[in-house]
Amino acid sequence: MQRFPQAFLDTIRERADIVALIQPYVQLRKAGRDFMGLCPFHNEKSPSFTVSPTKQFYHCFGCGAHGTAFDWLIDHDGYSFPEAVAQLAQSAGIAMPEREVPTPADLQAQARQTHLQSLVATADTIFQRQLRASPQAKEYLKLRGMTGHAAKAFGIGYASGDLIAHFPGVKLKDLVEVGLVVERTNGEIVDKFRRRVMFPIQNEAGTVIGFGGRTVGNEEPKYLNSPESTIFRKGRELYGLALAKQEIRRTRTAFVMEGYMDVVALHQHGEGRAVAALGTSITSDQLQRLFQLADHVVFAMDGDGAGQKAANRAALLVLEVIGDRKTASFVSLPAEHDPDSYVRANGLDAWTAYIGTHAEPLSARITKILTAGRDLNLPENRAAIAREASEMLATIRHAPTLQEALRTHVEAIINMGVARKAGHRSRDAKPTAEDIGTKAKPPAPDRSRAAFYENLARLSQLAPQHLEQIPTVLIDDFAALICSWFAVAAADLDARAAAVERITIPALQQVVRAAVVGTMQRTAELGAEQIDTEISAILAALQRDAEHAARVQKTTALFAAAV
Ligand code: UTP
Ligand code: MN
Repeated sequence: MQRFPQAFLDTIRERADIVALIQPYVQLRKAGRDFMGLCPFHNEKSPSFTVSPTKQFYHCFGCGAHGTAFDWLIDHDGYSFPEAVAQLAQSAGIAMPEREVPTPADLQAQARQTHLQSLVATADTIFQRQLRASPQAKEYLKLRGMTGHAAKAFGIGYASGDLIAHFPGVKLKDLVEVGLVVERTNGEIVDKFRRRVMFPIQNEAGTVIGFGGRTVGNEEPKYLNSPESTIFRKGRELYGLALAKQEIRRTRTAFVMEGYMDVVALHQHGEGRAVAALGTSITSDQLQRLFQLADHVVFAMDGDGAGQKAANRAALLVLEVIGDRKTASFVSLPAEHDPDSYVRANGLDAWTAYIGTHAEPLSARITKILTAGRDLNLPENRAAIAREASEMLATIRHAPTLQEALRTHVEAIINMGVARKAGHRSRDAKPTAEDIGTKAKPPAPDRSRAAFYENLARLSQLAPQHLEQIPTVLIDDFAALICSWFAVAAADLDARAAAVERITIPALQQVVRAAVVGTMQRTAELGAEQIDTEISAILAALQRDAEHAARVQKTTALFAAAV
């Protein structure tokens, strides 16, 4: 892997013209020092995508897309990092750094990589040929419901077990390294995959880098996988991603399943967004990649105990990588099914319906992990939940809003235990994670309205008449809004974005977002008078929202009474 000197990268970043890069794709309008337009990363009708030529980055207040010129080329145009570097260096008229003259060792390593890759590619061709020549293997795939078309799309093959014979002159040690042959303890060299259906594993670019081989009989283990090597990193790639990538990106949704067969079956039945880990548990590298391509990642796990464990493990990893505006959900299939058997038995429509009705949000999964098998009436259990929850939530690094919401949620569960203990319900009715998950509400804040106004006024130095207008139901959020507003008015794009993300009521968030965008449309610093106008506008919008909601409620009630 070529590394670039940091100073060189910094120079490119400084000289890059991010506006010129984005302009061909997004109609940008000047707004103060920044530019604005419709976000190319999500569908929207009014512009919330901003580009800052001074800061050299883009930020979308709608979907959170954010990055530098490098990120733009990588995320929008599909460049690799070195390609992005070369492109930006060229357009900024910066000479690429003298490539360090590769040492003989570098050259040797490169050549070796190419060589090993070619062995795997050759094996892939051979396996596909052997499948065509094996009526038995074809019969097996047919029995499993795989069409010839799907088999071809995934490059499914068959290993008869005589691979060595096809590599005359190739060093055995090399074949061992990529895991095509193995050395037995007695020194004998044999094919690793014998009488197995072969699933070639491709990297994102579609190059075959390894294999999973399934027995067609009852041999153990059921699947054999290529070993980790310099060309095959199991924790990085995802089975099926080369094929699924386009569709995942287009719909911003990915489905993760456990098995190779599941992925092939789902694609065959028309769900082209299915991917799987490579014979190991899913890693955070893999999740990170998926969340770059998608906003929603759905884990469809087998209905057995192992599937539940895998889902829990994935949920905990998701916490580490998920961002606000991204969602993860978990679907457990009926006990007797995995995705492959389900879609084969019931078809794609049933699959889609099942996913739709059984998708459990991340929060519910996390709650389950925390509360499973614990009687909440017992203070010790509530203490344990509190302790574990705080450790768990501390692992959330990129989703402050989610973190806060989960914290409140878990606190509510713990409080629920206390409430029940105090006799709100009969003692033997043990609360379950499910009923708490849906019914619990955080306790209302215990402050008098007047004291709260005072506090707010001090915070915001606002005219009291403004504060009087705030609808009671929105007061907490308005407080948060005011706090963030001043952070917003003063700070840079990053801080503004973060402030907007902290607001929990969607309608309110929209109003503030619009206000933030509005601020950027003016170059001048906000004077006190302008702030006043701004706040009045926000209040008016809030008022309209509240009035509208009240009207809707009244009308609905009228209709309900009439029928
Ligand atoms: P499953 O046992 O669920 O396999 O293992 P499957 O894909 O449903 O296989 P079929 O339907 O019986 O053919 C899920 C995944 O775990 C890995 C493989 O990646 C498999 O696809 N695995 C499983 C192994 O690596 N080795 C094994 O022995 C079993
Ligand atoms: Mn299966």
